[in-house]
Amino acid sequence: MKKIGILTSGGDCSGMNACIRSAVRTALRLNIEVVGVKKGYLGLIKGDHIKLDSKAVSGIMHRGGTFLQSARSPEFRTPEGQEMALATLNELQVDGLIILGGDGSLSGALALHKLGVPVIGIPASIDNDIPFTDMSLGVDTALNNIIYAVDCIKDTASSHARAFVIEVMGRNSGYLASVAAIASGAEYALVPERSFDLSEICQQLRHRFEEGRDNAIIILAEGVAKGQDIADSIKDAIGFETRVTVLGHYQRGGAPTVFDRLLASRLGKKAVEMLVAGNHGMMVGLACNAIVATSLDDVIKGEKRPQDEMLRLAEVLGI
Ligand code: ADP
Ligand code: F6P
Repeated sequence: MKKIGILTSGGDCSGMNACIRSAVRTALRLNIEVVGVKKGYLGLIKGDHIKLDSKAVSGIMHRGGTFLQSARSPEFRTPEGQEMALATLNELQVDGLIILGGDGSLSGALALHKLGVPVIGIPASIDNDIPFTDMSLGVDTALNNIIYAVDCIKDTASSHARAFVIEVMGRNSGYLASVAAIASGAEYALVPERSFDLSEICQQLRHRFEEGRDNAIIILAEGVAKGQDIADSIKDAIGFETRVTVLGHYQRGGAPTVFDRLLASRLGKKAVEMLVAGNHGMMVGLACNAIVATSLDDVIKGEKRPQDEMLRLAEVLGI
């Protein structure tokens, strides 16, 4: 193996830079050259790339986002787009490709694998909905961002005896909302995986208000409803004044936590080693604190990562 490529695709997350750094340093140690493809599959189609030497990846460990940049590319979903991507890979003469991203990007990785490209996928998405890995890159940092914000909001909520609806990311996944609710001591987590009765919630909030509690925090996954709509429906029924905070893309950025830096370093190293061993068409992930590999076919065919345990924990804790 003489040369490999690496790209970051889909929604960015903290830890991508640390992972690129690890893959590059591992490859250079094995005398393998590395090419960074810019802007995900869009850059792969266009041939937008840079050489990655050790200087190119120095000083990036602590930076959120991805210095290779990311993008969404509808064109890559088409056979013509994938042909153009193959042409770039041939031109670059890479012997393998590492792809960081969420389930969409990993579907793209599987498509390239089926076209004969040696690929390794790395799960990187704050949604934590990718199966066969306990954690995806960026999840821990996003959760820490959310908890910081919720703690701040709780302070001001208490001062004014208010309820807050805090909207977090997760179009189809309630992982961030349920774990954030557990870790912040929130009253409710409204998630796509679990139905809820808003009038019952209103009654409980009203009871809470009448008992003299000074705040209430409802964490809402964006896929369930708009925070403002939930707030509008409950505001006259609960006693508390109600406010809404949409955390939005704040959640996706910032310096990665130690957990994400370490996970990124382990996954980047393993991805290169898998390519060198000729063991491709796989995703590397974390299971019981070990780095494990699962075929991309199984990852993409598999159910979304089950959220049952967190939802059950939330339920037991009365959230
Ligand atoms: P994420 O990787 O964060 O889930 P997306 O779902 O937007 O983000 O996917 C990122 C990119 O991956 C898409 O813009 C597209 O280029 C590619 N992609 C997504 N799904 C597929 C698919 N089924 N086949 C091929 N490429 C795909
Ligand atoms: O996949 C991660 C994610 O952060 C989702 O939770 C969110 O809905 C989506 O990406 C938004 O991404 P963008 O604004 O980049 O399209």
